[in-house]
Amino acid sequence: MVNRIKMKIIKKPAEMQKLIKKYKLKGKTIGFVPTMGALHQGHISLIHRARKESNIIVVSIFVNPTQFGPSEDFSRYPRPFKKDAGICRKEKVAAVFVPKPKDIYPANYFTHITVEKLSDIMCGKSRPDHFKGVATVVAKLFNIVQPDRAYFGLKDYQQFIIIRKMAGDMNFPVKIIGCPLVREKNGLALSSRNAYLSGEQKQRALALSLSLQMAKNLIKNKNVKSAKSIISKIRKTLRPHVNKIDYVEIRDAETLETLGIVNKRAVIAAAIFIGKTRLIDNIIV
Ligand code: PAJ
Repeated sequence: MVNRIKMKIIKKPAEMQKLIKKYKLKGKTIGFVPTMGALHQGHISLIHRARKESNIIVVSIFVNPTQFGPSEDFSRYPRPFKKDAGICRKEKVAAVFVPKPKDIYPANYFTHITVEKLSDIMCGKSRPDHFKGVATVVAKLFNIVQPDRAYFGLKDYQQFIIIRKMAGDMNFPVKIIGCPLVREKNGLALSSRNAYLSGEQKQRALALSLSLQMAKNLIKNKNVKSAKSIISKIRKTLRPHVNKIDYVEIRDAETLETLGIVNKRAVIAAAIFIGKTRLIDNIIV
């Protein structure tokens, strides 16, 4: 289904829009995978899914400054562009969009998108403007790439729900597709931020996926349904291994409303710190 053409590296939004127009005139469908680079198997799984469904795959690599808080890791976020471009080429990506911050947010940039309610909970509590930055950049990328389908990992579960809501609320003509969370064999959720962890820290980080898996077992096999008691068991499991627990929550998997009793499809989500590195993970039950 995918065309075998030389991969294009595009830097300017207008240039990308021009190329997309050409593809569309030829009747091609566009599958889009937005990323911040430092690509790993999690990102690659999105590209694979896109390849099954679209003729043209576009990947964006943009470390989006507006989704990082003032004391977060924007400047040290890994940017191995050559390696990333090699991965995209190997995966038959048609075009990689790598804009500069000034081309996405020129001087006097004023417009932002806020997905109310959903952006203030969970990760939004400790990262107040994070989802405003995410929703704004993704809306801009949708207008630049004009995809038929866009692929997001369920690793960032709240992000997926927010983008899906934003696309629906704003009438973007794009199908938002959520793809399974990819883990290492030992359970650790793949993340570009795992690169910050030492061997010992990586070992401690395993407590995160293990505690969520334990919670799923409690619900599925031991018929424990009280969210409060499940959350307290997860916290107890995490405490000896992590430097700080940001949150552990159980919410409705569709609406992200809090659940007291786990009696419908739910997401158990957690954010922790190992050293200074903030890691998130979730499991659907
Ligand atoms: P980034 O963290 O680079 O992730 C890009 C996409 O890859 C997201 O949809 C994310 O959920 C997915 N992903 C990351 N790790 C994954 C894993 N282990 N399994 C499955 N999918 C995984 O998320 C962002 O960038 C940014 O916020 C972005 C949407 C690009 C906006 O700037």
